[in-house]
Amino acid sequence: MQKLKLTEPIINKEIKEEVVVENESSEQETKELKKTKKETKMEKSKEMLVTDLPGVGAATAEKLATVGYNNLMSIAVATPGELIEATGASEASAKKMIIAARSNLDMGFESGADVLEKRNNITRISTGSNVFNTLMGGGFETGAITECFGEFGSGKTQIGHLLAVNCQKEDPSAVAVYIDTENTFRPERIIQLAKGAGLNPEQVLKNIKVARAYNSDHQMLLAEKVEDLIKKNGLNVKVVIIDSLIAHFRAEFIGRGTLSERQQKLNKHMHVLSKLAYMNNLCVYVTNQVMSKPDQFFGDPTAPIGGHIVAHASTFRIYLRKGKKGTRVAKLVDAPNLADGECNFAVEEQGLRDIE
Ligand code: GTP
Ligand code: MG
Repeated sequence: MQKLKLTEPIINKEIKEEVVVENESSEQETKELKKTKKETKMEKSKEMLVTDLPGVGAATAEKLATVGYNNLMSIAVATPGELIEATGASEASAKKMIIAARSNLDMGFESGADVLEKRNNITRISTGSNVFNTLMGGGFETGAITECFGEFGSGKTQIGHLLAVNCQKEDPSAVAVYIDTENTFRPERIIQLAKGAGLNPEQVLKNIKVARAYNSDHQMLLAEKVEDLIKKNGLNVKVVIIDSLIAHFRAEFIGRGTLSERQQKLNKHMHVLSKLAYMNNLCVYVTNQVMSKPDQFFGDPTAPIGGHIVAHASTFRIYLRKGKKGTRVAKLVDAPNLADGECNFAVEEQGLRDIE
């Protein structure tokens, strides 16, 4: 990208700036100036509008915007299929839109320093337990997917409820989205945890948007709709909880013959979630079940469901299990920049309690 820029004359930049200023004045002028823009080899600019893409007129832009494609970045990272679905355009023109959007954005390499700067925007949502937060490098990261797997009653849903409450502690305007697939979301539990965190329970409940997913397609659709809550409704979504990520998929695709179809759908779902997390700097928390591995004689004979697709898409993986005297053990099994480790805590009415 840098090299491309160097080959362009510096004057182009000035032309572009004029274009942008005049863009606001009238539509006719915009059309004329578009040619100048093309001559300047469609210089990458953040100010370029969706309507400047090839084949995108006002009506198409409107269609795109209604489903959340209201900036170049969202189009640049879309698949042709998604744009065809949104606009009814042909595959060729959808591809053209994507290529044009990509060539106008800095989609290429960035320096390590830039990445570090981006990472400075990452916040961490507290679990309410010091030992658990320490294990997670300060809490559950935004911009990433964190997965918790473990047997029934290990505390996966409790952590989901805690995140929905605690994200509001730092930022009262923060909103949590709870996609509930097993009908285990309990407002009464939220009230207890909000009191425990010293927050106003009514306010906390208002800032949690709950949707019950009835099957895997519905679940996938709901995940896609979170973007609308952010873009259209202007909600400051900080955490998206999917509890459970896998239950519907597991129930609907039974038998070996259906496995590849299940994995394909799951892959698409995980892709939507990781894009959601990254583009909006929010925390995605998913829960996963375990299956027993009867052929394993040493160590823990349980493994998470979902195979390498879920494993790969999750940035952090936590294995939760029951410990002594009703306590819980969280083990960090996969994290890009943290050491693997374990911590102990107890689930109590007002939240988690550390056990040193
Ligand atoms: P599945 O969804 O069945 O796979 O389990 P899960 O991992 O989601 O378990 P969940 O988070 O629902 O944990 C339930 C457990 O949390 C209960 O068995 C209790 O031990 C504990 N728990 C839940 N609420 C309270 C509470 O108010 N007080 C106390 N002390 N413990 C609670
Ligand atoms: Mg649960």
